[in-house]
Amino acid sequence: MIASLPVARLQDQFGDAVALHAPLAKFTSARIGGAADVLLTAGSAKQLAAMVTVLWETETSFLVMGGGSNMLVSDAGVRGVVILNKARKVKIDREAATVWAESGSNFGAVARQCGRSDLTGLEWAAGIPGTVGGAVVGNAGAHGGDVAGNLILAEVLHHQYGRQEWTPAQLEFEYRSSRLKYHPGQAVVLAASFKAAHGDAETIKQKMDEFLAFRKRTQPPGASMGSMFKNPPGDFAGRLIDVAGLKGLRVGQAQISELHGNFFLNHGDATAAEVFALISQARQTVKEKFEVQLELEIELAGEWKA
Ligand code: EPU
Repeated sequence: MIASLPVARLQDQFGDAVALHAPLAKFTSARIGGAADVLLTAGSAKQLAAMVTVLWETETSFLVMGGGSNMLVSDAGVRGVVILNKARKVKIDREAATVWAESGSNFGAVARQCGRSDLTGLEWAAGIPGTVGGAVVGNAGAHGGDVAGNLILAEVLHHQYGRQEWTPAQLEFEYRSSRLKYHPGQAVVLAASFKAAHGDAETIKQKMDEFLAFRKRTQPPGASMGSMFKNPPGDFAGRLIDVAGLKGLRVGQAQISELHGNFFLNHGDATAAEVFALISQARQTVKEKFEVQLELEIELAGEWKA
């Protein structure tokens, strides 16, 4: 398989940023998953764009991994190329009350940095575990806020049109989704800018601390993928799984949290197959009991049987 990949060209152009047969588990928040044939580590948005350009030119399939927080990587790993996005430059414009961040920046850290600069509006994002790029693609949200409500522009690299700036309207945001999620592989987020407003660092911090305390109270610590399913219209995935009596259900080292039904935990060396067995069980039981089809919020990466 690896023979069909443009390894020599990638090594020539990106040197040490190229790793072969690289285990992915340690780059995911669930600490689960096999190896990528080729792992490229992008240190800047410029390098990310250069890598993606080579992969498109050579018609090589790839996926971009940010914080690995919303993803379940299969035990067999990922055939082809994974780009680990470590493009993390952040620029705050206090006067304009805006922030620009490269797509590999941790979104929660960006929000907290804004707060320390007296910029209000991103408090909801303080505890978001993933990256700015992942947050844009999946229209991340919490505590009533979401990316669609704060985004000014996303700088994307499009496979056909090159570098573009997309407005929220062009991104076609929906609940936990966007045009980038519907059409994976067409465009990659390089950076994004967000609007905030002038506020007071102390008040902002208080609000963030409240949100963080809520998460701590209602969501389990430990290795997980965050919310497993999207909330179905008018209800909550966690509530449905709870009322179905599935909290605490265990397959091997994987378990549905006893604290929050929409969190699936890895207690040590859980496999992706074990987590997937819990996903199937939760879907089936919730369908039988409540006639609700739960949709995954997380992305399945790598090789999965249909
Ligand atoms: N609930 C139960 N039993 C449970 C879990 C929840 O009855 O086991 C009930 C709660 O009592 C509450 C409702 O379900 O009435 C919703 O639960 P919660 O307030 O914990 O929020 P959520 O809808 O499960 C969403 C986001 C989280 C975000 C929180 C806080 C989704 C799928 N999840 O969770 O996002 O942190 O709101 O704003 O939208 C993530 O996306 O990874 C994530 C953690």
